[in-house]
Amino acid sequence: MKSSLEIEKLRKKDVLNFYRFVKNFILNEYENYSSLIRHFYWRHFWNKKKIEKYLKDKDSILMVAKEGGKIIGFLKGFVDYGGAAWINWLGVEKEFRKKGIGTSLLEEMEKFFKSRLCHFIQWCTERTSLVNFCKKREWHLIGLQKESWCGQDEYLLQKNIDKPHFELWK
Ligand SMILES: CC(C)(COP(=O)(O)OP(=O)(O)OC[C@H]1O[C@@H](n2cnc3c(N)ncnc32)[C@H](O)[C@@H]1OP(=O)(O)O)[C@@H](O)C(=O)NCCC(=O)NCCS
Repeated sequence: MKSSLEIEKLRKKDVLNFYRFVKNFILNEYENYSSLIRHFYWRHFWNKKKIEKYLKDKDSILMVAKEGGKIIGFLKGFVDYGGAAWINWLGVEKEFRKKGIGTSLLEEMEKFFKSRLCHFIQWCTERTSLVNFCKKREWHLIGLQKESWCGQDEYLLQKNIDKPHFELWK
């Protein structure tokens, strides 16, 4: 079957579909987190108002992967200050994994951060599988943050994508 994969910024018309997709994803795919924490993250990050806010905020970026028009993956990040950027969520539906979709989402995100003159990206995860995934993509493991967000131990990862743009801070 011919693939019709699209990687794009979330569009306003897709907010409701995305909301349904992401709710299901967060509540079912993050088995490392307790049910309490999964529900907290869903309410905190992914209620409809927050999703609409991400669309309006020029420093937030919410990318989706679509197959045949259906949302099957997502990636969220934001521009911080001083050339820093953060990624804070990535997910691809189980049946579409290991086809390069997660990597494509990350590549598009990097392009966006470079266009905003960010020179490094940070990411925190509790998953050793993600640490290994990132290490193969030029990310460095900075360390383990003990009892950090929601009391979880989280690995801090960093990727430098450009030289610092010193002209920004003159
Ligand atoms: C982490 C995650 C997003 C990766 O998504 P993905 O679409 O499977 O990522 P990719 O396909 O780009 O890469 C996964 C592996 O498949 C391999 N791959 C890519 N295309 C392939 C192909 N055509 N054939 C075989 N293998 C392939 C990649 O090389 C990669 O392996 P590597 O890391 O050893 O190099 C996905 O596993 C996921 O959603 N996990 C659950 C949520 C999660 O853990 N999120 C991160 C914390 S926020």
